[in-house]
This record gives sequence, structure tokens and C-alpha cells, in this order.
Amino acid sequence: MKKFPEGFHWGAATASYQVEGGIENNDWAEAAKQGTVPLCGQACDHFNRYEADFDIAKSLGHNAHRLSLEWARIEPEEGQFDQEAILHYRRVLQALEARGIEPYVTLWHWTLPTWLALSGGIERKDFSAVFARYASFVVNELHTEARHFSTLNEPYSIIINGWLQGEFPPFKRFPLLDGFKITGDDVDSKKTKPEWLAPIKYFTLANILARAHNEAYSAIKKISPNTKVSIVFQIHVFNDSGSLYSKIISYFENWHRNHRFLRMVINQCDVLGINYYFSSDVGSKKVYPKTDMGWDSRPEGIYEALMLVKRYQKPIFVAEAGCADAGDSFRADYIKATVEGICRAILAGVKVEGFMYWSLLDNYEWAYGFAKRFGLVAINYATQERSIRPSAYVYKKICEDNGIVE
Ligand code: FCB
Repeated sequence: MKKFPEGFHWGAATASYQVEGGIENNDWAEAAKQGTVPLCGQACDHFNRYEADFDIAKSLGHNAHRLSLEWARIEPEEGQFDQEAILHYRRVLQALEARGIEPYVTLWHWTLPTWLALSGGIERKDFSAVFARYASFVVNELHTEARHFSTLNEPYSIIINGWLQGEFPPFKRFPLLDGFKITGDDVDSKKTKPEWLAPIKYFTLANILARAHNEAYSAIKKISPNTKVSIVFQIHVFNDSGSLYSKIISYFENWHRNHRFLRMVINQCDVLGINYYFSSDVGSKKVYPKTDMGWDSRPEGIYEALMLVKRYQKPIFVAEAGCADAGDSFRADYIKATVEGICRAILAGVKVEGFMYWSLLDNYEWAYGFAKRFGLVAINYATQERSIRPSAYVYKKICEDNGIVE
């Protein structure tokens, strides 16, 4: 029996652009118009169907839910905020509250309003101030509806995919990496711009995003000192295989992929959100089964990810962990292994307060479009019909039992 602390938050995550539909004024929608990424269109039409989707989450035993707000809806022109958009998100948060589901709100999950992308995006000199202004506007409006706000999602995914690999806007790539697959498919170099300074940008852009988080944290705290503020950071675990070489490499990798950034923001976090998808065994040839993304299926590595952040002594929520599995043949085991890993970390002293499976719904998986199926709930994109996958019921039992009871 693996019981979790009383009041543990069990739920699933989504992100605005990936599920809402109807968003045309951000950098991804612009890129889709140019043919650089797949069209998103109506996605899951969650913008209109959120009540029915939250009914499903409730029926699946969830008591928490992570969602993000679409910056482009809220600030469609620079410095102009749309009250209709705020009203919509207020209703969304009230719909969660009515169902007894605790919201974890992410302010910015990757997509930038078009005006911001066109004026330099995160490379704009005043990016951190622009982000803090947006964050404080939103929290001022919505802090009575949500207790928990995350500033931004996975800083290194933005940098690696956007400036090294050329898979995300602004589609820059480091030419010396051409032909090397890092996390995804090799890119079509005709669609991308060479970025010879990428190794330097890797560090400078990380600094910019850390500063954006820190400034948003201070701005939010001035408005609402009791709001819990976090960042959502993807931990990539690097394990050594015993040799001196693998120890040196994994130490360096863990430093520059995890600790360097965390050290810049951790004092401005009340809570830390972590996402876990990847771990690498440096110097080992061990082969793991693959998910539909082609990623190693190694859910138990969540334990190592949590142990890696134990030193920061912050309360933690797992903001994402999950797998693409169109056949739903290994998702239930993936979830169980994830939950077991979290339980081990809690027993080892890590203060974990929640787990949000990625994702509640099948959705727009960025450069891959709609082909990859991460959902507890399957979407038929032609009819918008929802069907609950068998693995969702396995997770439901875990949620209702507050752990794994065998
Ligand atoms: C994470 C992203 C999320 C989703 C999953 C599969 O890195 O935060 O939006 O794409 O990967």
C-alpha cells in the first residue's frame, strides 16, 4: 500500500494553445499560416467545452487541475488588456471551483502574442518588464479565483527548440548540430535560420527567462502576498554509470540543464513545479522501451528528478509527467510507475503536494500537430467527441484511494 499525504492534489494538465482552439494572434498561429508548424485550428474546442471537460475530470476523481492562460487573448495589443478574456478565464476558474477542483494556473505556456513576437519576443530588452506587467494584471484580476500561479513553463524547451533545434518559433538552429537528433525529429533546415551564437544564447536567454520569472514574482507579491507563486521547470536527469568520464559529464549536464537555472529563481519561488519526461544514462548503452514520441519510457526516473530538487527544500508539485500512447497499451503502467516514484521521493523527504498527469485531453503537440496522443481522454477531432481511455480509470482509482492500494 502506497498512501500519499492527506490533501494531496491529483489531477491532469493542459495548456491554452494546445486545447482551446480559435487562437489566431500568437506566434504559433502565425507560423502555422507560413507553413512552418501544423495548423492548430479548433484544437479540442476546450474554450467552449471546458465545463463538460471539467465534468469528466471530476468524474475521474481529480481534485486539482493545471491549465494555462493565453497571453495573446488577454493582451492582444501591447499594453491593452481585454476584459472579455479575463471574464472568460474567471468563469473557467469558477467552473473548477464549483467542482471542487483546485486550479494551478500557468501564466505563460510558450506562445507569445504576435505583437510581442514581432517586436523581438524574449530577446526584447524589456521582456522581463513586459512579462511582469502582464503577470501583475492577471493576478490582480484573478487572485481571488486561484491561489496558485506559475509564471512560465519549461524555459529550456523554449530555448533548445527555438534557438538550437529550429523546431519552435523563432525557428533558429545551431548549424553545427545539423543531423544530430536531440529530442525530436531532424528539422527541415530550409524553414529555419542559422543561429551561430546559439551556445551563448543558450545561457543568455536562460538568464532573461529567469529575470522574467523573478520580476513577475515580485510584481505578483506586491499585489497579492498570499498567492503561491512557482515556476514550472523540466528536470532532465543525467545519471552516471560509474566511470569517471560519466561522472564528469553527468555532473556538468545536471549543472547546466538543471541547477544553474534553478539557483537563479529558487528564492523567488514559494513552490516549485517540475515536469519530468527525460533521463539520460551517461556512458551506458542500456536500451529502454519507447513511447509514441520516440522518447525513452522511464517513468520511474521521476524519483531521481525529485531527489535532484530535494536540496532546495521547497514544496513541489509535479506539473507534468505522461506519455504519448495512442493504443493506451502502456499508459496505465506508466502512471503507476510515476506514482510509485513520487511516493518513494516523499518517503525520502521530498515535500511533494500534487501530481498533474500530462494530459487530460489529447491535444496539439506543438511541431508534431495532433498525431501524438497524450490524453486520459481521447479526442475525435472531426466530431469533438470525447472518450475516456481505460488507463484514466486506473488513475481514477489512484486518485480516489489517495495512492496505490493493492
Ligand atoms: C512538455 C510541454 C507540454 C507538452 C508535453 C508533452 O514539455 O510542457 O506542453 O507538449 O511536453
